[in-house]
Amino acid sequence: MSQKKNFTLGEFIIENQSAFPYSTGELSKLINAIRLAAKVVNHEVNKAGLVDIIGEIGETNIQGEEQKKLDVFANEKFIQALINREIVCGIASEEAEDFISINSNDERNQNKYIVLIDPLDGSSNIDVNVSVGTIFSVYRRITPVGTPVTLKDFLQPGKNQVAAGYIVYGTSTMLVYTTGHGVNGFTLNPAIGTFYLSHPEMQFPETGNIYTVNEGNYIHFHQGVKDYIKYCQKEEEDRPYTSRYIGSLVSDFHRNMIKGGIYMYPKSSITEEGKLRLLYECNPMAFIAEQANGLAISGGSRILDVVPTELHQRIPFFSGSRKMVEKLKEFLDRYE
Ligand code: AHG
Ligand code: MN
Ligand code: MN
Ligand code: MN
Repeated sequence: MSQKKNFTLGEFIIENQSAFPYSTGELSKLINAIRLAAKVVNHEVNKAGLVDIIGEIGETNIQGEEQKKLDVFANEKFIQALINREIVCGIASEEAEDFISINSNDERNQNKYIVLIDPLDGSSNIDVNVSVGTIFSVYRRITPVGTPVTLKDFLQPGKNQVAAGYIVYGTSTMLVYTTGHGVNGFTLNPAIGTFYLSHPEMQFPETGNIYTVNEGNYIHFHQGVKDYIKYCQKEEEDRPYTSRYIGSLVSDFHRNMIKGGIYMYPKSSITEEGKLRLLYECNPMAFIAEQANGLAISGGSRILDVVPTELHQRIPFFSGSRKMVEKLKEFLDRYE
């Protein structure tokens, strides 16, 4: 894989495609489509407050959440970019009840990839000018090409992912992704609309001093998580840790990957499944975490090993610096 700096994302995609001699270029085209949609969404996110793009649309999505205008806009843009380029055979989104099948019952459609997206992550932060993101996850279909995609194609364990990434619309806009050969981050130069390789081979520090959790839910957490939070707050050696919680998974995860930290969205006495969606949020972030020398678990098991049973399945999620996740697991195991 390339380590050159000042590389554009376009150049990086071409260079790394030739590293796989049998590659058909399909995955490169797919990442290119995501790159384009990211720029379109970025342009709109940056104008929030000036144009009529903040606020709710008055509809509830399949998750039972009030959809924001930007949720819907981002969903349309990512789906359009993928459909127009005819490079995938199926798409599933946090914002839509069912998966979309794209000409997949046409035998001329030889596309083998499916994409799952969280088009706009951190919706609650849109109206208050705080970082939001997009998350994507790519799999090879398991049913034969030229036949309609089925739910089976979407319910694959995360370890089958061929690519995953996120875009963070923050103080600068970054696209971070992996195809299973490490994680690379690209920063958008908005003046010329080009992503540059700014963070080659990103890695979680072995350990860190940031813990990230919605502590308002503390009373409802299970004892293992409560005890670990108390451990984070205890005065000893490198502790107490610093508490940081933005409420956008992408931004919280991105910060922890750069600085070293642990992200937690546990189950609780009110939400036994946790909140985060396995297919659109946890699997892609877990793939990135492991590729960046971090860990991602649901409690007892590795996120990437979980076999999904539903498109919109939720799961407890703990991810971050290796040593911190291992320590948390010690606490969770005491109450197994
Ligand atoms: P989304 O905006 O895509 O629905 O995701 C929201 C998620 C995630 O981004 C965030 O970390 C978490 O929900 C915040 O949940 P709480 O408000 O319960 O802390
Ligand atoms: Mn949502
Ligand atoms: Mn989300
Ligand atoms: Mn979302």
